[in-house]
Amino acid sequence: MREKRQVLILKDIATAEQALVTKWTAVSEAAVKESGRFVVALSGGLTPIGLFQRLALLTDVLPWSKTHIFFVDERFISQEHTDSNFYLIKQNLLQTVKIPERNIHPIVTDSESCSLAAVTYEQHLVQFFKLSRGELPKFDLILLGIGEDGHTASLFPADKTLEEERLVVATDFPLVKYKRITLTLPVINNAKNIIFLVSGKRKALVLKKIIKEAAALPAALVKGKNGNVSFYIDNEAALYLSEKQ
Ligand code: 6PG
Repeated sequence: MREKRQVLILKDIATAEQALVTKWTAVSEAAVKESGRFVVALSGGLTPIGLFQRLALLTDVLPWSKTHIFFVDERFISQEHTDSNFYLIKQNLLQTVKIPERNIHPIVTDSESCSLAAVTYEQHLVQFFKLSRGELPKFDLILLGIGEDGHTASLFPADKTLEEERLVVATDFPLVKYKRITLTLPVINNAKNIIFLVSGKRKALVLKKIIKEAAALPAALVKGKNGNVSFYIDNEAALYLSEKQ
């Protein structure tokens, strides 16, 4: 069966961010209308900073009081550390918009171990989404990035976390600086909308592998249950992609 996958090639990162703001607006309004809330999980990394800043400008426009922000992944370091995703997203978005504190759902990293932090976040998801045993949370939107090695979230190539059936898992991948906590593939693939934002020449080769060659890389394993996966890519990152996908 051919996958339904949307690949949008935008002229530059600013245009991609603006297109994503439009998408966010539509998805959040539809979610609030349907269920009274909009539940989104955000990735860190450098790419989405501009998007966060654009969203922050819409503090009076978007339904922040009904928006719940979760985190796709986190480094096992203090939330005040400048390398933490919580810090990054707080600085660029959360501290500006009128979002109630209780709607922000960080991955708490002050537990004894990274595994315990993962279990705690999993329990938080179970409670928030009122999940019964074996049930998966359904985020309205999950925003992802892609690393040059094809990782997404904190799911790294050939790592055992790719097989994980739990909702959240700890990872200690040797090639990255910190231990991390990440949502797993089943959770990501169950989201209503999954969006990759990818920018810059250095991502062009890996994007070709993921989109055109379906390489066995973590980002390529994100297919979405209903094929609801969109790639927002700037021209530079799209260097090796043809018009037809
Ligand atoms: C993180 C991420 C990670 C990121 C990619 C891309 O917290 O680092 O969740 O998966 O999205 O590494 O990062 P850049 O946007 O910095 O290239």
